[in-house]
Amino acid sequence: MGNRPRRKMKRSVLVTREIPREAVELLRGNCETVEVHRAERPLTRQELLEKVRGRDGILCCLTERIDSEVLDAARGVKGIANLAVGYDNIDVRGATERGVPVSNTPGVLTDATADRAWALLLSVARRVVEADRFTRGGRFQAWGPMMFLGADVAKKTLGIIGAGRIGTAVALRSRGFEMKVLYNDPAPNPVLEEQLSARRVGLDELLRESDFVSIHVSLTPETRHLIGDRELRLMKSSACLMNTSRGPVIDEKALVEALEKRQIAGAGLDVYEDEPCLTRGLAKLDNVVLLPHIGSATVATRTKMAMMAAENLVAMLKGERAPNCVNPEVYHRSRQVEP
Ligand code: GLV
Repeated sequence: MGNRPRRKMKRSVLVTREIPREAVELLRGNCETVEVHRAERPLTRQELLEKVRGRDGILCCLTERIDSEVLDAARGVKGIANLAVGYDNIDVRGATERGVPVSNTPGVLTDATADRAWALLLSVARRVVEADRFTRGGRFQAWGPMMFLGADVAKKTLGIIGAGRIGTAVALRSRGFEMKVLYNDPAPNPVLEEQLSARRVGLDELLRESDFVSIHVSLTPETRHLIGDRELRLMKSSACLMNTSRGPVIDEKALVEALEKRQIAGAGLDVYEDEPCLTRGLAKLDNVVLLPHIGSATVATRTKMAMMAAENLVAMLKGERAPNCVNPEVYHRSRQVEP
C-alpha cells in the first residue's frame, strides 16, 4: 500500500512564469494539470485574465497584478501563492472577501536580499560599476592617484529604514565594517539594540545622520513616497541611498533631481517606481548603480522560494491551512474545498 503512487488531486494550476524545476515537479506530483507560462516575458493582462479562468490554484510573481478583475476571472480559485515575500501586487483584501487564501515566501530570501543590499552599498561607495565600464571601455591608460575616489564605509553610520527580517540582516552584516547603526521602525528591535548597540530614531534624524541609508519596508499606502524631496534634502550631501524593497517607496523623480544636483552622493537601486520603466534621467547618471530587481536572485534562494510557494499552494488545494498565509482571517470564514 505504501508503494502505491499517490493519487493526484483533480486540480488545475497556473504557474505564471518559469520557476525552478523541483517546484513544478512538486505541483505535478499533486495536481492533474499544471500549466507553466515559460516565456521570458510576463503574461499580458489579457493572457492572464484568460489563463486564470477555471484554475484551482495560481502560483504567481510580482509581475502579475492580481486585482479584483483577475480575482473575478479566477472565480472558484482555492489559493494564490506569490513567489515573493512582498505581496503588494495582490489585492489581499479582495482575495479575503472572496474566501481565497494568499501566501508569500518569507525568511528564505532574507540573506540573499541582505547580501544584495550590501553589494549595492559597496558598489556605490567604491564606484565599482563606473570603474568597470571605464576599464572594459579601454580607457585605463595609466594608474592615477585621483582615479575613482569613492567613500569610506568602515566606521561610518548605517541607517536602516524598516528593521524587519531583511533590515536586521543588513544591519548585522555591518559588524565587519564597525559601523554605527541607526534604525527607523514602528517597533524596537532588541537584536539590533543588543548586538550592535543600534539606536531607534525618527526618520528625519536617521536621514540627517546616516552616511548610508538602506530601505527595507514593505510597500503600503503609508510607505508610498516615504522618501521624497523633503527627505532627500535632509540627507548629507556625501550620503548614499540604497533600495532593495519596492520602488514606489521612493519618489523617483525627486531622487533623480537630488542625484543630478549632487544633493546626495549616490544611490543603488534594485527596484523602481514604475517597473520595469526608469524615470527619465536616471540611467544617464553615473552616481547610481541600477539592477533589474534581482534582490533574491541566487540559485538556492529562488529554489527555496519556489518550493515554499508550491508547498503553500498544495496545502491550499488540499483545503489545509497554508503555512505562509498572509490573510489567515480567510480561515475564519466557512470554506468548502471539494476533494
Ligand atoms: C522580491 O521583491 C520579493 O518581495 O520577494
